[in-house]
Amino acid sequence: MTANELRRKYIEFFVKQCGHKEISSASIIPENDPTVLFTTAGMHPLVPYFVGEPHPAGKRLTDVQKCVRTDDIDEVGDMTHCTFFEMLGNWSLGDYFKKEAIEFSYNFLTLPDEKGGLGFDIKNLAFSCFAGDSDAPRDDEAANAWKSFGISDERIAFLPKKNNWWGPAGKTGPCGPDTEMFYWTGEGSAPKKFDPDDANWVEIWNDVFMKYNKTAEGKYEPLAQTNVDTGMGFERTFAILQGKKSCFETELFTDAMTKLRILANYEKTESNLKSERIILDHLRAVTFIMGDNLGVTPSNVDQGYIVRRLARRAIRHGKILGINENFTDKIAEIFIEVYGDYYTELQKNRERILSELQKEEEKFANTIVRGEREFQRILPEVFEKKLDTIPGDVAFNLYETYGFPIELIEELAKEKSLKVDRKLFDEEYKKHQDMSRAGALQKFAGGLADHSEEVRKLHTATHLLNKALRQILGDHVYQKGSNITAERLRFDFSHPQKVTPEELAKIEAIVNEQIKANLPIHFEEMTVDEAKNKGAIGVFDAKYGDKVKVYFMGDFSKEICGGPHANNTGDLKSFKILKEEAVASGIRRIKAVIG
Ligand code: ALA
Repeated sequence: MTANELRRKYIEFFVKQCGHKEISSASIIPENDPTVLFTTAGMHPLVPYFVGEPHPAGKRLTDVQKCVRTDDIDEVGDMTHCTFFEMLGNWSLGDYFKKEAIEFSYNFLTLPDEKGGLGFDIKNLAFSCFAGDSDAPRDDEAANAWKSFGISDERIAFLPKKNNWWGPAGKTGPCGPDTEMFYWTGEGSAPKKFDPDDANWVEIWNDVFMKYNKTAEGKYEPLAQTNVDTGMGFERTFAILQGKKSCFETELFTDAMTKLRILANYEKTESNLKSERIILDHLRAVTFIMGDNLGVTPSNVDQGYIVRRLARRAIRHGKILGINENFTDKIAEIFIEVYGDYYTELQKNRERILSELQKEEEKFANTIVRGEREFQRILPEVFEKKLDTIPGDVAFNLYETYGFPIELIEELAKEKSLKVDRKLFDEEYKKHQDMSRAGALQKFAGGLADHSEEVRKLHTATHLLNKALRQILGDHVYQKGSNITAERLRFDFSHPQKVTPEELAKIEAIVNEQIKANLPIHFEEMTVDEAKNKGAIGVFDAKYGDKVKVYFMGDFSKEICGGPHANNTGDLKSFKILKEEAVASGIRRIKAVIG
């Protein structure tokens, strides 16, 4: 089975056998969600629909969602972790629940190929269910559903929240107990009893039974509708179907790996293979993040900062493998080739991906030159004080201020017969990392489940601003990102230069005029083509024939959007731009408030 065949097989099973509608992958860059930098799971873009917004495609949906998880960038390099991954999902939005969800999963896993399933032998499968605690009861219902298909008690483990609970993407929002499916990848036949700690049991799929809403006070309240959120790990399942130990050995990576091995003829030591996996993983992630239609380029803030870190870590490991030329664009080119048929946006954004990687590689080379110069500057003091070790805080300053990698600092130190105080460096590093990790995962309160009045109104203001920007600056203005908290909106858009104070004043005045006009707001569902014909703006990512929602604000603004919004523009009272700044080359950011 090829990668594309697995994707098709999953979608077709849920469309043809279980009455789902296929929807397109949402952007990897979340829209209107201030809590996370990337789409971290298939459920993430669907959160508004778990809490009551009607979805234009109905109540049973299925998709392949592009995801990025960056909470452990520094740990990637093993056999199973991927920064970028695809998640196969089926969704019930207040429709079917536990029993059917488990039946669908069981059938897809075990039905033979000709009946549309993966044909896994039930002997190789094991399951985990929620053990229960003071917030929610033990999930015997899920376990009994598995047992009704002949699964033995020994192959079902009950585990606590840490394992079998899907929490909200932010601190609050829809959540619930889940049941996970594992496949035996060890030598010989699978043991009778399922041991969740045995790494040979690989988790491949998770069905979440979303029936709670976690409140800001940490309470679990019943949701108005019960939902099912599932996520099948595409890379892991594909590796199993191919009989490979890891996804790095599958067609997803082998061409890029071959290219790396041509660029440098390194020995296949465990440490070199780890560097190889880091390069492949990071450059694939960077290709997808920059190749997204809302793609971001390397910078020092937010998603751009993650792109920079991933690219630079890949470059550094390239040096370790002895690659002496610029190579990141050559590897990205292969990923565009391998994935471009399915993810056509990679083809479309090919130029951006390749040229930005070339630029970043040049910039990093300059950083290293500068870092070496700064390193030479600290030496006299070290020698004067007759130290044999470069103090950790001095090393951290080199790293932090000049982006000079610690491994290179250590290398240069060694040439001067010096050591580096790694302990203090690591402490400083960890402090900093905790801060930026906290920032990456939970930048702001709120989130997609936040449908508070203020958030609705700010969302409406964003549409008015988008339209006003196009009227004053021109049609080259496209939304590049939106982030709304209960206090303010933040809107990123394409524009080659600073917006002048005069232009900002005009834009602000136009938005205020529309607020004063108290325009009625409503939405209509239509196909992407109809939306285009009506002159709607927005991200036309959806597949041909897909229905989308178009929000109308009087005659002033028509925009593809999931909602929700205020009822009338007058609800916003007034609009004020606080700040206009650059976020990356060709992309500007406006922060504004209402009321
Ligand atoms: N949201 C669940 C996960 O990502 C399905 O594992």
